[in-house]
Amino acid sequence: MYSKKVLEHFTRPHNQGVIKNPSGVGMVGNPTCGDMMKIYIKVKKDSKKREVISDIKFETLGCASAIATSSMITDLAKNKTLEEALKITRNDVAEALEGLPPIKMHCSNLAADSLREAIKDYRERKK
Ligand code: FES
Repeated sequence: MYSKKVLEHFTRPHNQGVIKNPSGVGMVGNPTCGDMMKIYIKVKKDSKKREVISDIKFETLGCASAIATSSMITDLAKNKTLEEALKITRNDVAEALEGLPPIKMHCSNLAADSLREAIKDYRERKK
């Protein structure tokens, strides 16, 4: 049912945990299954003054797909500019995981949405 990549990220998730004093936090829940995902980002300016996600971590209470997509989105978003990170879609996450079972595609929404929320939170804090 699950690809090798999903199982890899589920059994050994990357970037799991909390960032103390994060630049932004995003939390999204799925009302149907009750699963929840929280993403922490640290944003720094690079030499070209672009805002870059220098660190990212997640905490997820959820199914195997939710854990695997959390792990994968942190890999995809790390060291990206905010604009690049905002372009990551749930399909990008699912593709990087070599596919998700169709009934599990909704789980990848959590990852893309919570990353977006974290970036939004960062931008609001700066105002
Ligand atoms: Fe809830 Fe996967 S079943 S996120």
